[in-house]
Amino acid sequence: MTLSPSLPNAHSPAEENVSILEIWGGQTLSGQVAVSGAKNSALVLMAGAVLCSDECSLRNVPSLADVSCMSEILAALGVKLERSGDRLIINASTIGQSKAPYELVSQLRASFFVIGPLLARLGVARIPLPGGCAIGARPVDLHVRGLQALGAEVQIDHGIVYAYVKGVNKRLKGAKIYLDYPSVGATETLMMAATLADGETTIENAAQEPEVIDLANFCRAMGAKIRGAGTNTITIAGVSRLHTADYSIIPDRVEAGTFLVAGAITRSEILVSPVIPDHLTAVIAKLQAIGVQVVNEGTHSVRVIPSQNILPTDIETLPYPGFPTDMQAQFMALLTLSEGDSIISETVFENRMGHVPELSRMGADIRIKGNHAIIRGVPMLSGAPVVATDLRASAALVLAGLAANGKTTIQGLHHLDRGYEQLEAKLQKLGARMHRVKSDVKVDDCDPVAMVSPKPSILNQPS
Ligand code: EPU
Repeated sequence: MTLSPSLPNAHSPAEENVSILEIWGGQTLSGQVAVSGAKNSALVLMAGAVLCSDECSLRNVPSLADVSCMSEILAALGVKLERSGDRLIINASTIGQSKAPYELVSQLRASFFVIGPLLARLGVARIPLPGGCAIGARPVDLHVRGLQALGAEVQIDHGIVYAYVKGVNKRLKGAKIYLDYPSVGATETLMMAATLADGETTIENAAQEPEVIDLANFCRAMGAKIRGAGTNTITIAGVSRLHTADYSIIPDRVEAGTFLVAGAITRSEILVSPVIPDHLTAVIAKLQAIGVQVVNEGTHSVRVIPSQNILPTDIETLPYPGFPTDMQAQFMALLTLSEGDSIISETVFENRMGHVPELSRMGADIRIKGNHAIIRGVPMLSGAPVVATDLRASAALVLAGLAANGKTTIQGLHHLDRGYEQLEAKLQKLGARMHRVKSDVKVDDCDPVAMVSPKPSILNQPS
């Protein structure tokens, strides 16, 4: 594996010198900010490249700790990777290993995605259960049941998912699959697995997220036959082999949304580019509902034009095209400064409110009831030392710090580095006052506070 030395470290910093981010709030931002390639596309497309027995090239790949971790997992499977700028060349022709290492899979849930391509290519995969994380239990029962429907035998033993295909040609068989919930990861796993299966597969109640469409487009560029990605029914006609492709990843809609909120919370006008405005419909609608204007400039840029007063609103997170759970924490930071009461209901993950006690430390007035956060707007936040508990929580704290009076220091930056490329540099360029300093404090990995009741329908179902 040849990777750029600039790639962030994939490992948790618990035993390393950690950095903290110091932010002096109250600056007005201005200018244009560049959005990187989508993290959640990059991770799954990297797994998708394993389907191909030739070399593939991905462009617009963000430089992130999660991408480094996924690279290490692919390298452990025998895949060759070479990075040059934002281009990642992946050659899985020599893939020889069907067993992903626990140390890496436990760091990155998305690495479970390799199960589909491995089964499709080799007829066997051994992947450790990724386990829960700071935002929820995150079982993989829907992935497993779907693979079984495609003819895989699956045994889960001592925390390892051992999946294999019986028969001489070891090929999965096309099937009709209904997902109990439109899981992004399960849709992606099954779409990849079905790409090289024998016959036609239909995934009903499929996830419609833009990253699912991006994966389908990448697979199609490699010769896969996929229809319907972006709707709730995806049909895949299996082919025997995929060929080389050169593919560019879509812009990160969550990073773009985070910058839009940065404009709104600091009452600043910012041009955010490149974006696919259709991917931001729910986020833009909520910004407009609270009085913030967002206007298209050309086809791939949006300008946020703030208002002095932020109106309250209610938000419920939902699968796409609903309001994204990945923007919930950032909007919570924004609504702490609204003129009234707002309610945010988190319906996708059962434990995604780790930012609430930290925002409260900065003077926010938030009460939690079940999976709802009731936010009473306050006139001002005040800078304070806070700890990031997960990726999007860390973004929310940065946003709150930008708006707060005085200095905010954020610990737990390894979360931020998982999913935001050069966030400080980008915000500094817009005029934010922030920098990283080394700290002697050791930060343990997230210590999630169970504040949201379990989601009854989908969690803990037997596989
Ligand atoms: N679920 C199950 N069983 C399954 C799969 C999912 O119960 O087999 C549940 C999950 O526990 C969760 C809900 O279904 O409560 C939704 O999970 P989903 O599978 O849709 O999410 P994911 O694939 O694990 C991806 C993104 C997340 C994003 C969600 C929802 C990647 C690598 N991750 O996760 O991104 O929040 O979709 O849009 O694509 C982030 O970027 O911060 C992040 C967490």
